[in-house]
Amino acid sequence: MTAAGDRLGPTLFERSHAGRGGGKVPHPPKDALARIPADQLRADGPHLPEVAEPELTRHYVNLSQLNYSIDTGFYPLGSCTMKWNPKVNEWAARLNGFASLHPFAPDELAQGTLQLLWELEQALAEIGGMRAVTLQPAAGAQGELTGILMVRAYHRSRGDMDRTEVLVPDSAHGTNPATASMAGFKTVSIPSAPDGGVDIAAFRATLGPHTAAVMITNPSTLGLFESRIGELLEAVHAVGALAYMDGANLNAIMGRFKPGEAGFDVMHINVHKTFSTPHGGGGPGAGPVGVGEKLLPFLPSPRVLREADGRFRLERPGERPDSIGRVRSFVGNSGVLVRAYAYIRAHGAAGLREVSDDAVLAANYLKSQLAGVLDVPFSRHCMHEFVASGASLKAETGIRTLDVAKRLIDLGYHPPTIYFPLTVEEALLIEPTETESLETLDGFVAAMRTIVEEAHSDPELLHSAPHSSPVRRLDETTAARQPNLRWKGMTGEQTPCPD
Ligand SMILES: Cc1ncc(COP(=O)(O)O)c(C=O)c1O
Repeated sequence: MTAAGDRLGPTLFERSHAGRGGGKVPHPPKDALARIPADQLRADGPHLPEVAEPELTRHYVNLSQLNYSIDTGFYPLGSCTMKWNPKVNEWAARLNGFASLHPFAPDELAQGTLQLLWELEQALAEIGGMRAVTLQPAAGAQGELTGILMVRAYHRSRGDMDRTEVLVPDSAHGTNPATASMAGFKTVSIPSAPDGGVDIAAFRATLGPHTAAVMITNPSTLGLFESRIGELLEAVHAVGALAYMDGANLNAIMGRFKPGEAGFDVMHINVHKTFSTPHGGGGPGAGPVGVGEKLLPFLPSPRVLREADGRFRLERPGERPDSIGRVRSFVGNSGVLVRAYAYIRAHGAAGLREVSDDAVLAANYLKSQLAGVLDVPFSRHCMHEFVASGASLKAETGIRTLDVAKRLIDLGYHPPTIYFPLTVEEALLIEPTETESLETLDGFVAAMRTIVEEAHSDPELLHSAPHSSPVRRLDETTAARQPNLRWKGMTGEQTPCPD
């Protein structure tokens, strides 16, 4: 069986005909080539497909129709907050003054953008209860690295060189231990307690003079609020370590819990999730990092500053000697930051609190509706997402969570995150977000019920799903380890995927 379905047409290279699609510049001057300096002219023409404009346009529009997106359907991908992205954000991000600003424009010509960035920093600091924010990091993962590099700089500045460990709960996102290692620390894993929270006794036993920081995700990746957070933070500070909060799940707590005020020293925010930039497949994103008093001197530079006369400017090189320096080019991923600003201003403080309340309500509703359909391992109130498990279904029918996820595609739904967190067998992490209607949530529950019935009556249908997607079931390991993403010559085969 080939993995490619009928809807994958030939590539542009395969559609190419020599000489077709020329004349793309309508009336070039006759001496156009002579005007280009001889040493800048290429010796051979580029090996690009030659197709006419309608063919080219149809090719890409048809490809775009194969995509699943929040504009086409429900996307309950846990931990990713695939919420509706209001179109006003797109309007704002495309405004010429933002979209066309040259990154090297002098401060006098960039006042509007600098003001927006400065105000966004203030808003994020307020939302997170932090002293200040850097907007530079390009994603959550880079925000984590930025935060932990600041933690390292803090301990070094105090001559405290023996702090070599970062503690990370076993339910954490993989980027947490990766960050700790990249910053030169040893990751120490902390087990979860049966209620899904951090095992406090194990946590206390591991804390000590070698602990540089603790990275806590709250709400956790199990969708649970860490109920003993005050106790945890006190213990961290008592040994002279710092507390990092992974703020990827901020969508659950806005207006209800301010991590900085609770005692966290540093936190990143995935603005593409909580503040709605269309994202997926690796981008685009931004991972601003908020800090408390202790880490203020180490923030990346340049920061956006407001002068006494109300003008805005970028910090000059060397102006803040303790800074960890630049972590990304220019001021950050400004298109995403404009969208985040538009979202925050459109909602206001009360609106953001309502967003979080509705996200929590939707997740608890879905959880209660699915309770009899799949296993729901943690009975307590969830936050904006929850973990279900297909362990009983697998024991009864042999159908795995992977099969359930693939069959959901046939029924018109993007699958939830699966096999994460690693601590739950046959896990499905389901995050409906606040932007879906009751009917959509009920439709998803009905689809899940159908699949569980099919698992008993027609398991082969599930083993071989999906049946209706542009690409059939892939060998996941090969697809991840050896992705076939590049056109390598005209072989006449249409399939981009291994059989
Ligand atoms: C809990 C958690 N932490 C960190 C990250 C990393 O964020 P990003 O994908 O923006 O790098 C994610 C992303 O899904 C996450 O869910």
